[in-house]
Amino acid sequence: MTERRRTISLNFNLSGVGHHTSAWRHPDSRTERALDLDYYVQLARTAEAGGFDSIFIADTPALRADPNDALANTPFEPITLLAALAASTTRIGIIPTISTSYSDPYTAARQIASLDLLSKGRAGVNLVTSAGDAVARNHSRSHHIQHAARYARAREFAEVLELLWTSWSPDAVLADREDGVMIRPGGVRPIDYEGEFFQVAGPLNVPRSPQGRPVVVQAGASPAGIALAAEHADAVYARSMSIDETRGVYGALKAGASARGRDPESIKVLPGVVPYVAATEKEARELVREIESRLVHNPAELRVLGTMLGVDLSGYEPQDKVPLHLLPAPEEFNGSVTGFVELRTMAAEEGLTLGELAGRLGGIAPLGMWALIGSGTQVADRLQHWFENGAADGFNLMMPIAPGGVEAFVEHVVPVLRERGLVREEYTSTTLRGHLGIPLEERESARLEGTP
Ligand SMILES: Cc1cc2nc3c(=O)[nH]c(=O)nc-3n(C[C@H](O)[C@H](O)[C@H](O)COP(=O)(O)O)c2cc1C
Repeated sequence: MTERRRTISLNFNLSGVGHHTSAWRHPDSRTERALDLDYYVQLARTAEAGGFDSIFIADTPALRADPNDALANTPFEPITLLAALAASTTRIGIIPTISTSYSDPYTAARQIASLDLLSKGRAGVNLVTSAGDAVARNHSRSHHIQHAARYARAREFAEVLELLWTSWSPDAVLADREDGVMIRPGGVRPIDYEGEFFQVAGPLNVPRSPQGRPVVVQAGASPAGIALAAEHADAVYARSMSIDETRGVYGALKAGASARGRDPESIKVLPGVVPYVAATEKEARELVREIESRLVHNPAELRVLGTMLGVDLSGYEPQDKVPLHLLPAPEEFNGSVTGFVELRTMAAEEGLTLGELAGRLGGIAPLGMWALIGSGTQVADRLQHWFENGAADGFNLMMPIAPGGVEAFVEHVVPVLRERGLVREEYTSTTLRGHLGIPLEERESARLEGTP
């Protein structure tokens, strides 16, 4: 592999209206275009012009706790939308989310491998275990699978994907008309996977893409989530409460990968950032002030808070103290554990009311994410500082309001990062794996060459 300078990986966490809880109500958001493909094409092309490595779409396979948020994030199933965006872009990577708790791995492997081939090697997948009984009830279960069991299932899911994606050797397709040999003998092998959750014979019925196999992303923050990422992920969407905390997660992921015989450079850690950028710091602060003053009062926040705390808050008022005695113990809580512990600790230590705690959710950044406010140079400085001080290989950028957020980032921050050689001027690779600088690792390269 040729030496290349380490550059910041920019990942566009796409949301049609923006990531702020009330973005859809902002006059600059395009709520009325949230179902319009042309609008998403415009967002994708803006990120591609900014040299982003990838577009990522989060997903929960259920209507949100608050139906008012139905158009928040994107209302589309991510693989479908990203397939359309792949046809309208040429270089940027595409990363849909799949729930390992409620999907079938053979189907998922086919879908993502197909997306990878159709996009000429630009696909990845964000594997999540999902949270909440609402998702379970849409998938023939009354309750969400327990935390430990869903991570055990996620591990098997990731293993099956990896085996299926490498069940074809890269040169398997011969298409030799003369000798009548379409597939090289021995070029496609069954996987015969026998797990606790999945039994999959294989091989996959989709050949390799130009990047070898799709990129795997993970976002779990609990010890089980970190272990899964250290074993299987090429990239991780991390939380970003502070540089010290994020450095800890960064170190844990790199050490975890090393302990499993992986090159720590091969796992990219991308903390979430919510950038409020404008031509000047004053304008950026005005944007924040305007959003804070006009938009944070969302009447359904208590319902969302109740879901995150695992209690029914109907009958409570915002001025009531958080009913700590009703909250489950963390080991009994079956939702997203990291967010739950954070909220419970804040409520207990600061004696918050429900309204105050809900306000932490409806702030200028989602819980656990870093709001970064300033001019292009100021934002670039902070990103560079994290990048050069062991906290990040790149960033998962959650624009507060779309399309203005991504446009402002590309207009004000990207040129500064490019000038410093931290973001590429032009794409130098055609695949997502190439953009990230993570070639297939040895264990898979060995399999690629036909070694069992
Ligand atoms: C940037 C980011 C994106 C995420 N995207 C999704 C998603 O699309 N769907 C989902 O169910 N969970 C998503 N999660 C949540 C994680 O998958 C996970 O449930 C959460 O971080 C808690 O993990 P834990 O249960 O291991 O503590 C995301 C988390 C982060 C930090």
